[in-house]
Amino acid sequence: MGIYGHRGFSGCYPENTMIAFEEAESIGVDGIELDVQMTKDGELVVIHDEKVDRTTNGAGYVKDFYYNQIRLLDAGSWFDPKFSNQIIPSLSEVLAWVKGLDRKLTVNIELKTDRIDYINIEKKVLSKVYEYQLNDQVIISSFNQNSLKRVRELDPFIQTALLFIGVPANVLEEARILRVNGIHCEAQFALSIEGQKMRENGYPLRVYTVNDPSYVNALKKARVSIIMTDFPNRFLSL
Ligand code: G3P
Ligand code: CA
Repeated sequence: MGIYGHRGFSGCYPENTMIAFEEAESIGVDGIELDVQMTKDGELVVIHDEKVDRTTNGAGYVKDFYYNQIRLLDAGSWFDPKFSNQIIPSLSEVLAWVKGLDRKLTVNIELKTDRIDYINIEKKVLSKVYEYQLNDQVIISSFNQNSLKRVRELDPFIQTALLFIGVPANVLEEARILRVNGIHCEAQFALSIEGQKMRENGYPLRVYTVNDPSYVNALKKARVSIIMTDFPNRFLSL
């Protein structure tokens, strides 16, 4: 069972910043998960919320900032003033760093299109993945099934994953229609009959967001492929 740092090593560093990704990598995670939104001028930036308010010293929607404006925000002090030098990374910046590593780190790019359907974000993200030649290291996921559909139409081969909450009954049918390769689910789904049905049908189960290591044995027994966690240190030491 592999470990992905959820929003990087976000339990101990400000989420979705370079230091959170670098620290996750340095302790040996198999991959990192990150969230992508788009600025007013169409730049892809790594931030979870549609608004900058919670994780920066700014206010307002990402979509209303120009890239050069959003890059001036402090994305670390909200977590701890010692991280005041952290800014919102561009997707390019993260992918360039991943490409430069001396090992193959998986990058799970979550398209944050569930609330704002950013025009052409799927095409832009794929272009960046191609630019850095990371096709075989990337998994694109989204809660927005239209986004997953568009990714698959644009690229028949890139790894995609259906992301959802809870234990819906029709996941196998949706996965087949969307031609995704994996399932990003909560632990309760992975441990359910529905979850096991997905695994038996060849869909790897990647579980978010597990921070309590006492779940490990049950998830191993359910043959979960990946745990996404804010605290990769707790799991890598097991
Ligand atoms: O991709 C798994 C997980 O990150 C989805 O939820 O809200 O943390 O982006 P959220
Ligand atoms: Ca996410």
